[in-house]
Amino acid sequence: MTSRPSASLKGRVRAPGDKSMSHRAMILGALATGTTRIEGLLEGEDILATARAVQTFGAKVERTGEGAWRVEGQGGFSTPADVIDCGNAGTGVRLLMGAAAGQPVQATFDGDASLRKRPMKRVTDPLSIMGARFAWQVAEDRLPATLKGGGLSAIHHVQTVASAQIKSAILLAALTAEGETCVVEPEKSRDHTERMLRDFGVEVSVVPEGEGWRIRLKGGQTLKATVVAVPGDPSSAAFPLAAGLIVPGSEVTVEGVMLNALRTGLFDTWIEMGADLTIANRRQSGGEDIGDVTARHSRLKGVVVPEARAASMIDEYPILAATAAFAEGQTVMRGVGEMRVKESDRIRLMVDGLRACGVAVEEEAEGFTVMGGPVRGGATVATAHDHRIAMSHLVLGLAAEQPVSVLDPEMIATSFPGFVELMQGLGAEVGA
Ligand code: S3P
Repeated sequence: MTSRPSASLKGRVRAPGDKSMSHRAMILGALATGTTRIEGLLEGEDILATARAVQTFGAKVERTGEGAWRVEGQGGFSTPADVIDCGNAGTGVRLLMGAAAGQPVQATFDGDASLRKRPMKRVTDPLSIMGARFAWQVAEDRLPATLKGGGLSAIHHVQTVASAQIKSAILLAALTAEGETCVVEPEKSRDHTERMLRDFGVEVSVVPEGEGWRIRLKGGQTLKATVVAVPGDPSSAAFPLAAGLIVPGSEVTVEGVMLNALRTGLFDTWIEMGADLTIANRRQSGGEDIGDVTARHSRLKGVVVPEARAASMIDEYPILAATAAFAEGQTVMRGVGEMRVKESDRIRLMVDGLRACGVAVEEEAEGFTVMGGPVRGGATVATAHDHRIAMSHLVLGLAAEQPVSVLDPEMIATSFPGFVELMQGLGAEVGA
C-alpha cells in the first residue's frame, strides 16, 4: 500500500466505532442475561474475533445491520469446544481472560504472531491471586495459555502499570468473586468498563485517590441486558484529522468522535502544538461526550508532551510522531515505555520508519524525540503487522516529498476497516 503527496483534503467523515467500547459491549452482553442490542459496533477484525470468542463461550451473536448487533447472553460462560483465538487483539484476550476467570470453565486462549509476543502475566498474576489457574502451553507469560476459572475470591490490587486492560480484567473477574474487590489506580486509565458495567446494572464505586482512582466492586452481581450505542473512536479519528493538519489547504471534519477526557490527550497535544483543531456540536451518546472534530492545515510547533498525559493517548503516539515530523522544532515524547509492548514495539517501529523517510529521530528506552523539518518520504516501511504503524506512515506520505509504502497493510482492518476508501473520499492519494 502506498500514499503519495496529495492536494488539499476536504470533507466530512465518520470514524468507525470505538474499539475499546466495542470489545466491552460484546463481552458484557455475553455475561448478561437477555438480549443486548449494540449500535455503531466497530466491525474490525479485533472485534469480530471477540464476537466469535463470546459465541464459543455460549452467547448467541447476530449481526442485524451495519454496525448493529444482537448479543443474547446466557448470564455466564460455558466451557468452549474450541480454542479462543483472539487474533491480533490484546484488549480482547485480556478482558476475555478476566471474564472467563470468574466462570466455572476451562478454556485455552491464543492469538496471532503479534499477540503471542505480548506479556500476559500482568493480567494472569492478579487473576491467579483471585483463584484462577493458568497453564502456559509454550512459554511463561505468553499465549497460548489454558485457564481454569471459577471459585474466585476478591482482591485488593494496586496497579503498577497504568492499564485499563488489567483493571478491566480484574473487575470482570470480580463480578463472581466472593467479597468486595478493590483496584487502586495511581494514574487514571480509560474508564469504559466502569461506565458500561453501570449501564448493565452493576454497582461500581469509583472515588478519586491522589492522581487516580479507587474502584470497588462487590461480587455476586448480575448483569442485565441493555442497549449500547458505541460512539466514534478518537484513536481512529486521529488519522484523517492528522492528514488534515499536515496536507496544505486541507479541512477535514470527523463526526461523532468520543471525547472522554481519558482518550483525548492527542487533541490537547495538537492544540498545544498550534493545531487549528475545533470541536463543534458537543452532545452525549452512549453515556459519553461526543462531538464533531475539524482539523485545518496548520503550522505546527514541537512540544514536550507531559508524561502524565501518556495514558490518555498511549495509542496515539505513532500518529503524533508522524505529525511532529512536519512541525517546527522537536517534539519530545517520554514516559511511554508501554508503547514497546503494544501490537509491535511502537517506539522502535516509528523510529525506524521515520528515519527511513528522512526524519531525524532520537530513541530512548522509554521514549523518543522527533525533529521536525522537510519530510522526504520515498521509503517502504516495515509495520510488524501493526495497524497503527501502517496508518501513521500512510498519513505521513500524503504530505511528504515522495511516496511512502507500508508492508502488511491488511492489518489496518483490525481497527479501521474502510480506512483507505475513507481517506480516498477526502482526496488522499492512497492505494495499492
Ligand atoms: C485499551 C487499553 C490500552 C490501549 C488499548 C486499548 C482498552 O492498553 O493501548 O489499545 O481498551 O482497555 P493498556 O491497558 O495495556 O494500556
